[in-house]
Amino acid sequence: MDKKVTVIGAGNVGATAAQRLCEKELCDVVLVDIIEGVPQGKALDLTEAAPVEKHDSHLTGANGYEDSANSDIVIITAGIPRKPGMSRDDLISTNAGIMKNVVREVAKYSPEAVLIIVSNPLDAMCHVAYDASGFPKNRVMGMAGVLDSARFRAFIAMELNVSVENTHAFVLGGHGDTMVPLPRYSTVAGIPITELMPQDRIDALVKRTANGGAEIVSLLKTGSAYYAPASAAVEMAESILKDKKKILPCAVYLEGEYGFKDLFIGVPVKLGANGIEEIIEIKLTDDEKAALQKSADAVEELKEVLSKLGS
Ligand code: NAI
Ligand code: 2OP
Repeated sequence: MDKKVTVIGAGNVGATAAQRLCEKELCDVVLVDIIEGVPQGKALDLTEAAPVEKHDSHLTGANGYEDSANSDIVIITAGIPRKPGMSRDDLISTNAGIMKNVVREVAKYSPEAVLIIVSNPLDAMCHVAYDASGFPKNRVMGMAGVLDSARFRAFIAMELNVSVENTHAFVLGGHGDTMVPLPRYSTVAGIPITELMPQDRIDALVKRTANGGAEIVSLLKTGSAYYAPASAAVEMAESILKDKKKILPCAVYLEGEYGFKDLFIGVPVKLGANGIEEIIEIKLTDDEKAALQKSADAVEELKEVLSKLGS
């Protein structure tokens, strides 16, 4: 393949993302993890599936970064996931340390790569990665909005008994309890859901979306969601690798857009070969603006925790 994607962290999200990348034959894949044998074993297992799955992507597993050199994209899933009762924010000190060390290595070996951050707490980890990489803002982004919107889309399709392919949804803000699902911009075959279901049902779906990660954690009991998160990260990677210029909600660095400065938060962006090619500013009602402000305040609080940690 002429494209190369490295996935750091060969755990649930990382290994599933590697599987989706190669099964879509988007690129060669390098899996990196600190646990000896795990990235090598998973890469070999996926390689042995290739004849049946009919793809020619090459997979490599490693405990160091040499094989990742000159990657087009690096997806970072390294870190610990939450357990029942934990919030995403409880992961901050462990994952900030991991993120800083990982990103320094990534930047050394792949100075031109686009970084897609997955580790939680997502928006705070984007700040750590941005600072540690020194990369321009168009090449550092976080995956959250695509996942949160996919959850909202799945719930809309279930509610109305329609194809998921007919659904579109937008969830903005930070990847936490304060995320901002936008029913006005969420549609089925172009029709806003506000025309298709009563307010109490919309409210219920919005609440389920905001609680979507915790719902899976409480069912799994160990670890958190990974099939949908991996799909979401790979949709972002695909838009960049193929220069598709899809509009997707991603956590990006704002410098005045939506009224926020020096802040990573989820907003709609155009993803193409240059990473983030445009930040799309949509009109928000006063209530939506207030909800986004609350979400931004939550990310600001995490930034303060990071600065106390020295990250
Ligand atoms: P996991 O525990 O299955 O995998 C994490 C992997 O990272 C492990 O294999 C571990 O050995 C590895 N790792 C730890 N330190 C490392 C280092 N310094 N270098 C390389 N690898 C290292 O966890 P899972 O389920 O894959 O989740 C990964 C992260 O992604 C968690 O922080 C989780 O909260 C987050 N997440 C974020 C989502 C989002 O929407 N942004 C969605 C799902 C998960
Ligand atoms: C999720 O939303 C844990 O952030 C992860 O599933």
